[in-house]
Amino acid sequence: MAISINRERIAELTAIESAKLDASTQRSKAMFAEAQKHLAGGVASSYQSRDPWPIYIERGDGPKVWDVDGNERWDFHNGFGSMVQGHAHPVIGAAIAKRYPLGTHFGCATEDDIVVADLLSARWGLPKWRFTNSGSESTMDAIRIARAYTGRDTVMKIFGSYHGHHDTVMVSIGVDYDQIGDRENYSSLAYGGGIPQATVDMTIAVPFNDAGAMERRIERLTAEGRKPACVIMEAAMMNLGVILPEPGYLEAVREITRKHGIVLIFDEVKTGLCIAPGGATDKFGVTPDLVTLAKALGGGLPSGAIGGTDEIMRVVEDHTVYQVGTYSGNPLSMAAARASLEDVLTDDAYAHLSHLNDRIVAGCDAVIAKYDLPGYAVGIGSKGCVTFSTEKIVDYETYAAAQDGELADLAWLYNLNRGVFMTPGREEEWTLSVTHTDEAIDAYVAVFDELARDLTA
Ligand SMILES: Cc1ncc(COP(=O)(O)O)c(C=O)c1O
Repeated sequence: MAISINRERIAELTAIESAKLDASTQRSKAMFAEAQKHLAGGVASSYQSRDPWPIYIERGDGPKVWDVDGNERWDFHNGFGSMVQGHAHPVIGAAIAKRYPLGTHFGCATEDDIVVADLLSARWGLPKWRFTNSGSESTMDAIRIARAYTGRDTVMKIFGSYHGHHDTVMVSIGVDYDQIGDRENYSSLAYGGGIPQATVDMTIAVPFNDAGAMERRIERLTAEGRKPACVIMEAAMMNLGVILPEPGYLEAVREITRKHGIVLIFDEVKTGLCIAPGGATDKFGVTPDLVTLAKALGGGLPSGAIGGTDEIMRVVEDHTVYQVGTYSGNPLSMAAARASLEDVLTDDAYAHLSHLNDRIVAGCDAVIAKYDLPGYAVGIGSKGCVTFSTEKIVDYETYAAAQDGELADLAWLYNLNRGVFMTPGREEEWTLSVTHTDEAIDAYVAVFDELARDLTA
């Protein structure tokens, strides 16, 4: 039986650690005051906000980042899981330096587009590819392709999953637990303002790891004349900590979607290139009809991709769907992507990531056992997290029931104050890079040990 964590102790340690972080980030504080004059909220994206001020970064090198106050930290945030190659990788730098004097944007296809499409096709086993500039563009276009291919409007997603910031998928993500509705018939809830209700109503969410609930909802929607065009999902969920698919779940989803003539989209914006050479599709051996990529694809430059079957991508080829974009296939991004795929994210790189992830998971589990903490570590490829819950998290409901926001915040402060950079507000979610070493992993585990020791003192 795990110990229950003393809430007063969390509050006491949070006050100490907050004061410490405030003291060591005074330059960020000053920059925030300046930034707010003309940069809305002082940041480029609301996901970069933080109270009382964001940590402004100056530079990164391999597995490390430095903030504007000169604090050096191992980077486990890695640009929201994009920098699996590590910062300023020399191979990618050389490819960018070679491309720049040749011109960086023409609005025309270049040879690297062809090579990157070939390389992705070999990794994912899907024959046809197109490029975008971000994960949101990839999921937006993939959904449009599915809608055009099926002639239907309804979109099915997993409750709690994030697929980018366009209207159709800004539905049923993080909500108050009591609004979620009944499991067989979850409510469609807008994620933030400015999303038309008509669009919200077209998106239906079902629980992760429950193929039966998915099929029953599909059948009810079909009876109502609202059969979905697609199911868009992460094969392993990456935004509620890390939730792996239960054995047989993905196979069942594949069978159900095929049986009902619904396009299956694996959103691999986070998993793609990060958990295996061919992402979740490769790792779990279940091939969707469409796949979406972004984040790690460009090795630090904006990029995205959609891969699909010949049959479905025909709606792009015959111009039924306008899959377009001024910067799609940008030569600089494509040069970086090519170098990354050919020379950085190699089989050896994935073996190294697996070694590191085994080490960090084992290290965190050992700390949990040593201090009898309520939690467990989970990892896959370069991704993982510690979840502070005694129950296994399998979907949004189990996640929401077990969420300990205060403890997650304290863990983040401990990391920041001891040389470990993490994504704020996440349950100890990490992304490793190929430049991380055992030393980086051991530093992470040592901080976690210190947190556990102080919590249970
Ligand atoms: C699974 C998933 N899909 C799509 C997106 C959107 O990507 P972007 O922020 O590049 O638009 C994200 C971003 O975090 C994501 O995690």
